[in-house]
Amino acid sequence: MVVLDRVLQKKHLSNIQELVLKLCWKGYTYAEIAENSGYDDDYIRDVGFRLWQTLSKALGENIAKSNVKTVLRRYYSNLAQTESQLSTTTAFQIPSFQQQQDWGEAIDVSMFYGRTVEQALLRQWIVDEKCRLVMLLGMGGIGKTALSVKVAEQLQSQFDFVIWRSIRNSLPIVDLMRELILFISQQTEANFPETIDGQISCLIKYLRSQRCLLLLDNIESILQSGETAGHYCAGYEGYGQLLRRVGDEVHQSCLVFTSRETPSGFTAREGETLPVRSLQLTGLSQVESQQILATKGLVDSTVECDKLIQRYTGNPLALKIVATTIQYLFDGNISQFLQQSPVVFGDLWEILEQQFHRLSANEKQVMYSLAVKQNWVTLKELQQCLVPHISERELLEALLSLQRRSLIEQQSGNYTQQTLVMEYFTDKLIGQICCEIPTREIE
Ligand SMILES: Nc1ncnc2c1ncn2[C@@H]1O[C@H](COP(=O)(O)OP(=O)(O)OP(=O)(O)O)[C@@H](O)[C@H]1O
Ligand SMILES: [Mg+2]
Repeated sequence: MVVLDRVLQKKHLSNIQELVLKLCWKGYTYAEIAENSGYDDDYIRDVGFRLWQTLSKALGENIAKSNVKTVLRRYYSNLAQTESQLSTTTAFQIPSFQQQQDWGEAIDVSMFYGRTVEQALLRQWIVDEKCRLVMLLGMGGIGKTALSVKVAEQLQSQFDFVIWRSIRNSLPIVDLMRELILFISQQTEANFPETIDGQISCLIKYLRSQRCLLLLDNIESILQSGETAGHYCAGYEGYGQLLRRVGDEVHQSCLVFTSRETPSGFTAREGETLPVRSLQLTGLSQVESQQILATKGLVDSTVECDKLIQRYTGNPLALKIVATTIQYLFDGNISQFLQQSPVVFGDLWEILEQQFHRLSANEKQVMYSLAVKQNWVTLKELQQCLVPHISERELLEALLSLQRRSLIEQQSGNYTQQTLVMEYFTDKLIGQICCEIPTREIE
């Protein structure tokens, strides 16, 4: 940006020119930029063509999509050298071209299908309605991370700063706050407050003066397991403070986070007309799921594909895993796989195991009973089949918690599980019984 400001002097790039330049910089094709931005392919090409012409004129050398990165980088390093010679006494730092966007370990989403309704809704919430806090909720592998990156790419031109961070490895809050504050202040914030509260106040000061899009992936990794969903692990309560204050206080930025579980304190704040919202992700549609199967080279009859997609309720990770297995072990024959293979295995089993170990004893009991029932049940029916018996209050609390973990489906007072989850709990139950029979200690 510094280079562009210098070479274009008083002229500014339009939003669309800026978007094309940024995405070309990241290696996107014109077709991908068009798909990302919702513009026509030819229009994007035209914007690109004119942009290279403007830059060629300003820099006095031929610039095209293929060499823009090299030329601007060279120009930038010359500029930085001159600047540092001019001001050796000050620690003046020229912001680099990429400094306003920090994508951390964001995954590649160039092969992304569907989710158009979700994308439009998120644009409406984040851009039109200026929501301050947005949660993307859903079970493992459903596509939360992918959607968060896609949306950030689409909305980047609306923000002064975009930063994407995964906290899968339980990043301590103080480290996150330091990264966020230094990034948004362009390394100029000299006073890093000692307390978490002070750090959040400092961050919010920047969120007020600039429009920033912050994305935090995997919030569930700092939530406790083994009790009702949503409590923060010891030492990570600061994340709760951060989410609460970003949701409650006035500023012009937005924090989007993904999680398999709703963190405590969130539900009371969200609402259709409030600046805090949540979007629960369900599986991809038939067509989009078929596209995922096709990327793995799995193209079978529509009927077979549909059966497979239904079995895995359009979970993109599940579809990718089974498609690979079908290719390797069943020569691409879906019906053989459907007849012979267990539903849950490999990484899918691992993900559900992780989710299982996070459940409280009551939640596990409810999940086993729902798996045994195999169908929609009411609260009363569920209570009758729970052994040992638990109170209505405990049952309601367990159901609420399971809902917050995206593990049950509910429809007007009736409850069940997705096929994938049901198969896992059935297998788990059978395994447990098989272990108990020889010991004659049947629970
Ligand atoms: N709409 C989509 N189109 C194509 N691929 C997708 C889509 N959504 C997700 N995927 C792919 O499916 C896989 C799982 O998605 P992702 O990692 O986003 O799930 P997740 O919900 O974040 O899971 P977890 O809870 O484990 O973090 C990834 O390989 C991702 O690229
Ligand atoms: Mg994820």
